[in-house]
Amino acid sequence: MSTIKFTARKISDVTTASSQCAVLPMFSDTKLSATAAAMDKSAGGAIKASLDLGDFEARSGQRVFLPGTAKSRRLLLVGCGEKKKFDRAAAREFAQTVYNGLNDTSAKDALLLLDHLKVSDANEAWLLEMIARTLQSSAYRYTETVSKPKPALKLARVVVSTATRAPAQRALDQGSATGRGVNVARKLADLPGNVCTPGYLARQARKLGRDNSKLSVQILEEKKMRELGMHSLLSVTAGTEEPAKLIVMNYSGGKKSDQPYVLVGKGITFDSGGISLKPGAKMDEMKFDMGGAASVFGTMHAITEMALPLNVIAVVAAAENMPSGKATKPGDVVTSMAGKTIEVLNTDAEGRLVLCDALTYVERFKPAAVIDIATLTGACVVALGSHASGLYANRDELAEQLLSAGVESHDRAWRMPLWDEYSKQLQSNFADLANIGGPGGGSVTAACFLKEFAEKYDWAHLDIAGSAWDSSPKGATGRPVSLLTRYLMDRSGSQAR
Ligand code: BES
Ligand code: MN
Ligand code: ZN
Repeated sequence: MSTIKFTARKISDVTTASSQCAVLPMFSDTKLSATAAAMDKSAGGAIKASLDLGDFEARSGQRVFLPGTAKSRRLLLVGCGEKKKFDRAAAREFAQTVYNGLNDTSAKDALLLLDHLKVSDANEAWLLEMIARTLQSSAYRYTETVSKPKPALKLARVVVSTATRAPAQRALDQGSATGRGVNVARKLADLPGNVCTPGYLARQARKLGRDNSKLSVQILEEKKMRELGMHSLLSVTAGTEEPAKLIVMNYSGGKKSDQPYVLVGKGITFDSGGISLKPGAKMDEMKFDMGGAASVFGTMHAITEMALPLNVIAVVAAAENMPSGKATKPGDVVTSMAGKTIEVLNTDAEGRLVLCDALTYVERFKPAAVIDIATLTGACVVALGSHASGLYANRDELAEQLLSAGVESHDRAWRMPLWDEYSKQLQSNFADLANIGGPGGGSVTAACFLKEFAEKYDWAHLDIAGSAWDSSPKGATGRPVSLLTRYLMDRSGSQAR
């Protein structure tokens, strides 16, 4: 996968720095900044001339290329709108416009002249982290199973001229690592179900472990799961030939005594619905049903690259949900690892069946907190659409931390209720609980089901059915890697803002 390398540099005279493209942010309502004035002079007045023509008014989202200076082959002017209105949203549009501009050129490197760019409601670290993350994740291309993939971004190096060097480099590194993590998640989720099987995910975990001395990997096979009593998880994989895997990745970046943060990902590599078969239309999209697992992989990638000083354990419950003569049937009752019996009223509500055993399994790690991430319910898409992930938590402090990490990284979640009144919908005449709760509040009752298995620790659940992928054009978004990475950075005391 192509990646961009980011470097922060303190440049006293920007006209002496060479690059294939110098990028200048421009406000619509202010005179040229000192940097822009110097570049204008060096470009023989080309910037002023362009503004005088009136074609480029420096509106937000506008961009124009000018012939460069002796040192910079091209100049890219990027509109930022009114100076006092340059807030986080405007800054995000700026970053996307910079990407669009650079993507239109064959420039291999670029020089971002950001020393005069102030965001009204954020500091420099936020800006640089966001820019690096946006450029890095926009460079993603799906290449795996197509003969002629979209051409790769030519851009390989970005130098950012800033007032501070060390903190700026740190912010760029964090954004870059997060962006790469997002791309890891997108690639895994975009891969078709016949390539990205539970076995494939297990091999990816082993690879990540080989590349990192602080990451150890353990794969639990079905035999081991049976010994542990994970009959709920095993009931989902009963109808397929693909062996299920419980993937455990243990990252020890913290002290031995530090309690670990645990991430649990739903890794259904294809969800046909099982005997409760889904309708044919859009069934292909159920290859994305391992989006939670993909985001766990992406987050592990990012935090190991950053070498965050804390302990994180990732558990991926990977299985395929298929119908067959051996498949679990509606009405079957299974016993979970926790000992609770479950009446499987609908085999298409399989995510909670794999997650509940994974949630019981992670009790052994004495976690600081457990967060599960799952493309769990169509009902969550109805409730929140694609902009927010559904957030559930059995502890307010954990919910607040995740909500705030989502705002910081613009990978937002919205809190939903876990009230006992909803849990009543899960009552069954033939088991301790049923795996579905009737027509109303489907995302909530799914979360209430999981809550029953997460009583021993602080726990949160992210329903990412709407946020993990786009339907047109079809593709994975890599969410919520940015949220999770920000959350873990905050826990490690990294760069408070
Ligand atoms: N993986 C699906 C949820 C899903 C649906 C994600 C659409 C993204 C888009 C999940 O396993 C499922 O099938 N859930 C059922 C639950 C129902 C049977 C209670 C659903 O949402 O219809
Ligand atoms: Mn399903
Ligand atoms: Zn599913």
